[in-house]
Amino acid sequence: MKKITKDIKVIQAPLAGISDTVYRKLIRKYSKETLLMTEMISSEALVNNQKTLITKFDKEEYPLGFQLSGHKPHIMARAAKILNEWASCIDLNFGCPVNKVVKGTDGSAMMRNVELAKEIALAVKEVIDVPLSAKFRLGWSLDEINFVEFAKELESVGVDFVTIHGRTRSQMYSGNADWEKIGLLKNELKIPYYANGDVKTLQDAKKCLELSGANGLSIGRGFMGNPTFAQALENYFKDGEINKESSLEEKIEILKEHINGEVELRGEVNGIKFMRKFYNFYISSVRDASKYRQVLVRIESQKEILKVLDEILSLHLANCG
Ligand SMILES: Cc1cc2nc3c(=O)[nH]c(=O)nc-3n(C[C@H](O)[C@H](O)[C@H](O)COP(=O)(O)O)c2cc1C
Repeated sequence: MKKITKDIKVIQAPLAGISDTVYRKLIRKYSKETLLMTEMISSEALVNNQKTLITKFDKEEYPLGFQLSGHKPHIMARAAKILNEWASCIDLNFGCPVNKVVKGTDGSAMMRNVELAKEIALAVKEVIDVPLSAKFRLGWSLDEINFVEFAKELESVGVDFVTIHGRTRSQMYSGNADWEKIGLLKNELKIPYYANGDVKTLQDAKKCLELSGANGLSIGRGFMGNPTFAQALENYFKDGEINKESSLEEKIEILKEHINGEVELRGEVNGIKFMRKFYNFYISSVRDASKYRQVLVRIESQKEILKVLDEILSLHLANCG
């Protein structure tokens, strides 16, 4: 079922090098309704037939959006046409702040080139029959905040919904996302808008929705090491129910599943290497978490990692008395 059939309340924000098929399926396990999103896919690479692990996905991930990056309208359109067959929606990356991306005038640099952004949106819209969305920031810098105009321009060429990360490009990831500023979009658009940045708990979610007036939320790092947050959000949106936090036991079970999935996808050597960026997130509640992380990132075998995780859990349970 690739179609988006309901009002989307939560979008899993694309995270390059993180939100691969294994990660997304973990989130899907806890939430049927969250719109999952691939990592950004370079339109140039895709049309040049350089398919990589980034484009791997499974049917059970639907609804699943595909995010495209690039700055050439005809290449973006060709890439979108390829993805249209599988995508629940196509998302345009107009928000990435990384130098490598911005230098090529991709990502958030597009916020300084509204005409080109519109040209891309138009070219893509013409060749797809699924919803088109765009993700961007507040603007290039605090002196160049233009997300309201940018969103309206994109709406005028047929973009179906937008996501705004409440930081500027210059801020990169420093400071806090400004949820209140996102609220300037209230009454400015007919299409839905989603607020993004720093939502990690249900309290954050409530506050962000209140301040931004957004139709829903886009969650990036809040799902890292915590895919059950997707379930908590889904229940909250359905009936206001507040889930209890996952126990360490549950988190370690999920971490093991994540490790096993990545090893299956990438092989033991690469899978174990890939997982090193996640340990902090999964075991943050353990006393001496950084010490354990140091141990985990040095281990190269899957079997050994799983054994150490059991030891961490036993020690934790013993300490809890
Ligand atoms: C490691 C990492 C990779 C990211 N990759 C992408 C990406 O591929 N496309 C994109 O639009 N944003 C990307 N972002 C930005 C996130 O989608 C999101 O906007 C940002 O992390 C703020 O939201 P959060 O606080 O919920 O994580 C990335 C962020 C991080 C930390």
